[in-house]
Amino acid sequence: MKRNILITGGAGFIGSHVVRLFVNKYPDYHIVNLDKLTYAGNLANLKDIEDKPNYTFVRADIADLDEMRRIIARYNIDGIIHLAAESHVDRSIKDPFTFARTNVMGTLALLQAAKEYWEALPEKYEGKRFYHISTDEVYGALELTAPEGIESPFTTTASSAEHHHAYGEEFFLETTKYNPHSPYSASKASSDHFVRAYHDTYGMPTIVTNCSNNYGPYQFPEKLIPLFINNIRHRKPLPVYGKGENVRDWLFVEDHARAIDLIFHEGKNAETYNIGGFNEWKNIDIIKVIIKTVDRLLGNPEGHSIDLITYVTDRAGHDLRYAIDSRKLQRELGWEPSLQFEEGIERTVRWYLDNQEWMDNITSGEYEKYYDDMYSNR
Ligand code: NAD
Ligand code: DAU
Repeated sequence: MKRNILITGGAGFIGSHVVRLFVNKYPDYHIVNLDKLTYAGNLANLKDIEDKPNYTFVRADIADLDEMRRIIARYNIDGIIHLAAESHVDRSIKDPFTFARTNVMGTLALLQAAKEYWEALPEKYEGKRFYHISTDEVYGALELTAPEGIESPFTTTASSAEHHHAYGEEFFLETTKYNPHSPYSASKASSDHFVRAYHDTYGMPTIVTNCSNNYGPYQFPEKLIPLFINNIRHRKPLPVYGKGENVRDWLFVEDHARAIDLIFHEGKNAETYNIGGFNEWKNIDIIKVIIKTVDRLLGNPEGHSIDLITYVTDRAGHDLRYAIDSRKLQRELGWEPSLQFEEGIERTVRWYLDNQEWMDNITSGEYEKYYDDMYSNR
């Protein structure tokens, strides 16, 4: 079936994996990647697919309602996968307004533009879908009731053999009450509410998914894993917030993209699905795994970079533990993560070490200058 799908934020980390998957897997679909190319957007993430005939890139700001109306009509969009957002918690603490503008007003503009366009069609909402990508951070933070970890109550084929435990009995469910703490998660929570409101009020066919921490290639090096890999390579300090006791639930980004594909096609309207790999790690433990892997791949002696660990002032309002229960998705749509964590982290470290030019272009700011020149006459 021919479809015209708008993917927002496709030049970012997760978005680039989703765009690549859809462009390669669905040659009959026209994939329109809409991205503002903020500091986090990088078209080098999509070099391998940029010339494909079923792919179009459009530079635009989701908060610009007229522009959203024009683009949705121009490409006759019937499906939207919305990933564009400001995504870094530390930036949201310094500059909450940018987060409200993009994540809240931007999502609202996109919803409104889609509503106006779809409602004016003879078939209205039939065959249409607005899929909003959200985060587990909207649920707040869980207690760390088992500091040393307990056996995980879940089994997935991909959960790590060595590290298959949970740091508490409680998990985020689709029914868990929202309780965001950072300006980032507050803005994501607000956008989730708007998406559900457009379903409940206007009957728009919407879906929301809440995913745990992603890792893998093309992640902007302000986030823990790529930042630390790059710092180890340059023998720079590794800033561990607080005591390094916070727990995150890590999922390989290609598994998230697979889940998005499945849910976009087979998920039920108005539903929420949690996405996660039952793969909890304390920051300090995952940092030690990264150090070990980078040192091994660089040919350094074991323990060479451990002295780079530097404990620094904690992040304000730092959530203690996130842990997703993704059994609904497993049960209803048959999704589960495909990768053992050891394999995922090995592939990830290797990718960053093999793609130093990609990293150096970001850290030098070269990629941003390139876009400013390329788009300055438009
Ligand atoms: P990212 O920061 O790497 O990418 C965001 C992209 O959005 C960039 O390409 C940026 O240029 C674009 N963008 C920002 N503001 C825009 C605007 N006003 N108009 C158009 N484009 C704009 O983010 P990511 O980590 O890939 O996250 C993507 C989505 O997934 C976000 O909605 C995020 O909340 C959600 N999410 C992320 C994670 C994670 O671990 N990274 C986990 C769960 C959910
Ligand atoms: O849970 C999903 C969320 O995961 C997404 O919604 C966000 O977009 C994404 O950025 C991520 O948020 P986190 O705040 O968990 O990710 P980050 O990589 O910034 O930090 C991971 C953990 O590591 C967190 O507990 C803070 C800590 N940290 C982070 C950095 C950058 C450090 O100790 N030192 C650091 O320098």
